[in-house]
Amino acid sequence: MFGGHMVGARRLGGAQARGRACSGGRSYTRPKPARMRLPMARCFVTRVLPGPALDRLRDRHEVDVWPDRLPPPYQELAARAAGVEGLLTTLTDRVDAALLEHCPDLRVISNYAVGYDNIDLHAAAGRGIVVGNTPDVLTEATADLTFALLLAAARKLPEAIESVREGDWLTWEPGRYLGQAVAGATLGIVGLGRIGTAVAQRALGFEMTVLYTGGGQGSEAVRRVSFDTLLEESDFVTLHCPLTAATYHLFDADALRRMRSSAILINTARGPIIDQEALRDALLAGEIAGAALDVTEPEPLPPDDPLLSTPNLIVVPHIGSATRVAREDMADLAVENLLAGLDGRPLPHQVGVAV
Ligand code: DGY
Repeated sequence: MFGGHMVGARRLGGAQARGRACSGGRSYTRPKPARMRLPMARCFVTRVLPGPALDRLRDRHEVDVWPDRLPPPYQELAARAAGVEGLLTTLTDRVDAALLEHCPDLRVISNYAVGYDNIDLHAAAGRGIVVGNTPDVLTEATADLTFALLLAAARKLPEAIESVREGDWLTWEPGRYLGQAVAGATLGIVGLGRIGTAVAQRALGFEMTVLYTGGGQGSEAVRRVSFDTLLEESDFVTLHCPLTAATYHLFDADALRRMRSSAILINTARGPIIDQEALRDALLAGEIAGAALDVTEPEPLPPDDPLLSTPNLIVVPHIGSATRVAREDMADLAVENLLAGLDGRPLPHQVGVAV
């Protein structure tokens, strides 16, 4: 479920796994070693999480869970974080230096996301607070959504669905709803990490040529190229890099202009990697053919945001990891990270501070 941690546990079979030892064909129950009861800690969890993971946290610690559909406002988050040792956040919670200044007892922040751009890692490290995240368990779900968006944009699914609903499906028409071929096209991946690699695997199944730029390790089938070459040669460009100072507005007017006029841009990473005003202009001017966004700046995008009335654009509400299994596994991992941090053990997934 979460890497070596659970795999190791699964390897113990039968008697061993149940704490029994065998000797000379007889088995006996090994007395449980006396476990030192670690003190209870106070935890604040900023959202109700799917699955049973939070019960495991409640078994060990005093847990305050924010019950609303909307996240706690910043001041509320700051007030609650000020009195706890463990904090479980989601990507919508801003944990900055000013907030951390008032958290004298905080020892661990567990972020329910693979991305952690909502947390000031340097400020946390400076106060000896460890930070965990939830990679791996959402990789396949996010890669699936990326491909769903790619296919939907390439084959104009939103327009086709809308025209059926509006009674505009008059007959089978040779020249209507014409989209782009995916098989055999070139996909450019910005950031070949876990999710980028999973997207590349799907693309190879569609017999696409796969290029990548930025971090990651390619293979014979997945060729590393410069950012410019990727923009110039790709029919589809998909973003899988973290949001950092270097990737903020990486896709600005200039980058969009260098893409093919037939190209489609997909973003399931973080909204601010794209300059949305420049994207709107590029779509209106026909500099690129389409875009599909799972992430925007801000989130949520207000219903009257001009981007939403831009042609050839799909926007979905940040659902990359939204499968039941991925979200429950993320909850398991986030709770494991928090429990480990509170016990003073290494986190199953600790985020390092870039120097
Ligand atoms: C993440 O985990 O960073 C995704 O954006 C949401 O699951």
